[in-house]
Amino acid sequence: MTDSSPSPASSSRPDPFKERLHDCAGRIEETLHALLSGEGEDGNQKSPESLLAAMRHGALNGGKRIRPFLMIETARMLGYEAPGVLQAACALECVHCYSLIHDDLPAMDDDDLRRGKPTVHVEFGEAMAILAGDGLLTLAFEVLAEESIHPDASVRAELVLGLARNAGLKGMVGGQVLDIEAEHRTKTEEEILRLQAMKTGALLRYACEAGATLACASTEDRARVTRFGTIIGLAFQLADDLLDVTATSEQLGKTAGKDLKSEKATLVSLYGIEATRQKLNDLIEEAETLLKLFGDKADILISTAHYIAKRTH
Ligand code: IPE
Ligand code: IPE
Ligand code: MG
Ligand code: MG
Ligand code: MG
Repeated sequence: MTDSSPSPASSSRPDPFKERLHDCAGRIEETLHALLSGEGEDGNQKSPESLLAAMRHGALNGGKRIRPFLMIETARMLGYEAPGVLQAACALECVHCYSLIHDDLPAMDDDDLRRGKPTVHVEFGEAMAILAGDGLLTLAFEVLAEESIHPDASVRAELVLGLARNAGLKGMVGGQVLDIEAEHRTKTEEEILRLQAMKTGALLRYACEAGATLACASTEDRARVTRFGTIIGLAFQLADDLLDVTATSEQLGKTAGKDLKSEKATLVSLYGIEATRQKLNDLIEEAETLLKLFGDKADILISTAHYIAKRTH
């Protein structure tokens, strides 16, 4: 399961969404590869090859690249395209890849399969997996603070602040803590939605918000795309939880059936598959309605919302 393209179309007509996602995944892969190759580094400042190899294992060859895609397409919908957008999108993907490496650690979800490959700690050992995650997290901020990201320094500062907030205490890391604390315990719908909005929703929302920041969008447009990001962030984790019980490990490229085994608090465990699917469909409809105002320009983001709900891995 290393294919980053969406599932095959039922018709043979080219689908602009699938082409864009495929193209984006290719460009993210190339950029990450360049960042993690270690080429051109000199003497005393050289990165340890063992660490780079573990970081490459966790970041390259796989992943749907949905978060960078959302950032790039949000900026594009709002009229902004520049090479710095791809760089910023890569920074976000680095944070996401680090979150997966740490999520899989024995002390966390204890998974040995990710993106169709052995997890980083299985291949390189636990200490190196922790450090590879640390390395990717730190690299993200190094990349995001570069002048080439955006000509306006206040935009760069806003991007860095937003990533720190959404990745940290009140975002992904905080959500992972609530997720661990929710294991083996009965949780209310409200509690589950809050933890999911943090552990998964925060980075997806940031993807859209950062697209608006890069495009220097109006307050109204920014609020609208951020709301879109919040909704698809929730939808994304609901789809992940549904796939955990409905798909196979081979389809997912990661171990299926983990949530039940670890007694994770999910909406699937609370209400079952059908009710969760209904909630997911309602969220996608809401996301679509939010972007109607942007007309045809919103087509790709709306297709992304549908893809998030219908994805098979
Ligand atoms: C998996 O994210 C972790 C969750 C937040 C549910 P993705 O489903 O985006 O994983 P990759 O990057 O495509 O492997
Ligand atoms: C992970 O949620 C969210 C992260 C912040 C990485 P899961 O634990 O459900 O993700 P998978 O199923 O292992 O990809
Ligand atoms: Mg987890
Ligand atoms: Mg996990
Ligand atoms: Mg999961």
